[in-house]
Amino acid sequence: MEVIIRPDADAAALLAARVMADHIRTNWRIVLGLATGRTMEQVYDLLCEMHKQEGLDFSGCVTFNLDEYIGLGATNPHSYRYYMNQHLFSRVNIEMRRTHLPDGMAKDLKAECREYEDRIKSYGGIDFQLLGIGVDGHIGFNEPLSSLRSRTRDKALTPETARQNCAMFGGDPNKVPKRALTMGVGTILEARHVLLVATGESKAEVLLKAIEGPITSMISASALQLHPSCTIICDEAAASKLQGKDYYHWIFDNEPEWEKYHSGPLMTLMGKN
Ligand code: F6R
Repeated sequence: MEVIIRPDADAAALLAARVMADHIRTNWRIVLGLATGRTMEQVYDLLCEMHKQEGLDFSGCVTFNLDEYIGLGATNPHSYRYYMNQHLFSRVNIEMRRTHLPDGMAKDLKAECREYEDRIKSYGGIDFQLLGIGVDGHIGFNEPLSSLRSRTRDKALTPETARQNCAMFGGDPNKVPKRALTMGVGTILEARHVLLVATGESKAEVLLKAIEGPITSMISASALQLHPSCTIICDEAAASKLQGKDYYHWIFDNEPEWEKYHSGPLMTLMGKN
């Protein structure tokens, strides 16, 4: 696992978008695993900007989202399908038929989950998985006590997650659907590369547990410590409780693979460093 700390949320999102763009550029037929949520909005805005300004090409990409609320269809503005269409798919040159989310309206949810796993396999697995982290440590909707070997399935959401996500539902946690379909922790761990993005003070405590705490199903994100190719990009606020901060800073400043990200056209354009 590699932890990279950037000064603020803008710089963290920019670095995440640039890393993801480089993966897309080097593998035209890339299979992307995608997340939703507030953290990703900025990352997707930047990817759209790179598409517009630098011609970042999504035409070969296949995408699989992590999760979808049960009972919300594609035209429901609270569904993750709607979110993805709004924030990314309709703004870049990706073919809609290559974009996949679990169907929260499926009559047979178990069959839908099995079929989703099969579809991921049929494309050769996920090359690059983008992740956020919930305040309860979830990745996807793998709430505490999710098996570290879990596969795509339906999952009840914790009250904490309902509170975290209620802004999109008029601020009322009771309006957040109680269940969702989500890729499992085991599914996520099979991606060839994983990039988790965390910003803001509200993520500091959970990030400490996920990165420097023991591997436990109480914090699903801690399972990423087992992943052979995992990068965490966070801002100073989310990193504020990490014990190894100095070392993580050193990595970004000194490791050759990060050197090309110390400057760049879009970063200059946005006044970031
Ligand atoms: C959503 C998902 C979730 C979010 C997490 C963080 O598809 O996978 O795990 O990434 O809840 O959400 P934000 O960014 O809104 O704090």
